[in-house]
Amino acid sequence: MSIFNQLLSAFFSRLFFLYILSVTASQAELVSGYEFSSEQAKEFQDDDFQNPGFLLIEQGLNVYNKIGDNDQLCSNCHGLNGDQFIPKSIAQFPKYHDILQKPVTLRDQIQHCWVSRLDNFSLEYDDPELLALETLVRNKAYGEKVNVNISGKIKPYYEAGKAFYFTRFGQMDMNCAQCHDIYTGKMLRGQKLSQGHTNGFPLYRLESQKMINLPQRLRECFRSLRAETFEQDSKEFRDLEIYLNARGNGLKIETPAVRY
Ligand code: HEC
Ligand code: HEC
Repeated sequence: MSIFNQLLSAFFSRLFFLYILSVTASQAELVSGYEFSSEQAKEFQDDDFQNPGFLLIEQGLNVYNKIGDNDQLCSNCHGLNGDQFIPKSIAQFPKYHDILQKPVTLRDQIQHCWVSRLDNFSLEYDDPELLALETLVRNKAYGEKVNVNISGKIKPYYEAGKAFYFTRFGQMDMNCAQCHDIYTGKMLRGQKLSQGHTNGFPLYRLESQKMINLPQRLRECFRSLRAETFEQDSKEFRDLEIYLNARGNGLKIETPAVRY
């Protein structure tokens, strides 16, 4: 190798080293999407009376108090209005479910109780009733730090989600990290790119004026990649949800957050 080439390769390996350093540094400092939001979105989020997400929590309570096909009620096992949910435990989702022998998102867990404990027909992943219940339950952990355990049986699913996060997709040939790790803070079509965390979900979108769950947001990100998207309840999105939540371990839960 000529001296010039040696210098050049030393230069690039240093550049790469600095790049890795900056990526790890940006990962070390977790910032909620709230900090990247417009003043208007922050104002809505900060005021429980203005925050439209609270309407959904009320609807969630109606569903929570609806008698199931076997005359059971959520409250029979989880207390009046869900008062017996343990915030720290809710903040651990997605988690490995030992009986089902697979990881479950909070949505999956609610669905499991809905079907196997109330004898109801299962709900679509984006059913308004399921969204309302998820918002109600996640809000019980408001202010609690996200705390997903990634050791043990959940590990391979977490690893798959992580690999997915760094996989390039679509006509843009981009991965999640490019927008949410590297270009964080930059403007994209009028929106400031956040770190892409999940601590505000389900959340209210000012743009579409509706509540969305995480898979709905992921599908939108896929559309902006001009990529074929995945089914809401696909294994890929479930694995990704595990990785994304764990990646935000330590952030406070803000459900229902408000975003553009
Ligand atoms: C007959 C009792 C029973 C009923 C009724 C019931 N659940 Fe559950 N639920 C459980 C049990 C037991 C668990 C523990 C995990 C498991 O076995 O699935 C659980 C776990 C949960 C969890 C996770 C709690 C945590 O901290 O990990 C949520 C959320 C939940 N249920 C929501 C609901 C909702 C919403 C309803 C009504 C649609 C409901 N459940 C109805 C028994 C019940
Ligand atoms: C072309 C850029 C781009 C790519 C690539 C992209 N997103 Fe996004 N994403 C956005 C924009 C824009 C928003 C809305 C503003 C924000 O929060 O960054 C967003 C928001 C999010 C949010 C919501 C954050 C919050 O606090 O509300 C999550 C989670 C997210 N993205 C995850 C992902 C994942 C996972 C991938 C890879 C599958 C991905 N994004 C790929 C542009 C992108």
